[in-house]
Amino acid sequence: MGIPQPAFYIFKCEQASPPGMPKPSCVNPQTQDLFQHLAQTLMQKGIIGTVQPIRTGCLNRCNAGPVMLVEPGHVMYCNLTKEKISEIIDRHIIGGEVVKEYVIPAELWDAPITPDAMMKQMGR
Ligand code: FES
Repeated sequence: MGIPQPAFYIFKCEQASPPGMPKPSCVNPQTQDLFQHLAQTLMQKGIIGTVQPIRTGCLNRCNAGPVMLVEPGHVMYCNLTKEKISEIIDRHIIGGEVVKEYVIPAELWDAPITPDAMMKQMGR
C-alpha cells in the first residue's frame, strides 16, 4: 500500500496589506493568528496527516476576508474567526457537512468558467 494522499487541503489566505493601505486583506493584527489556530486544532485532533493546511496568497475575495478554501469541494469560507474555524473542522472536515452559514455568498462565488470557455471568450 502506498502513502495515502491527504483527504483535504485547506488553503488559508495569508495576504496582509502594507500598513496604511485602504484595501482590506485577510491578515491584520486582529486576524494574524488564524492560520496557527487552524494548524494547531488539526494537530490537537490528530488529523493533520490527512488534512493539510496551506498558507496561500490573495484568493481575490478580500472584501469577504479572512477567507479559506477547502478542497476537494471548492468550498470558500469567509469572515473567519477562530470559533468559526473550529466549527468548520468539526462539522465539515470531520463531520462531512459543509457549514453553509459560513460559506461566501453565491454572488461572490459563482460557478467557475472552464479554461476552454475562457479562451473562446477571448477569441483564442
Ligand atoms: S487578501 Fe485574502 S482574499 Fe485577498
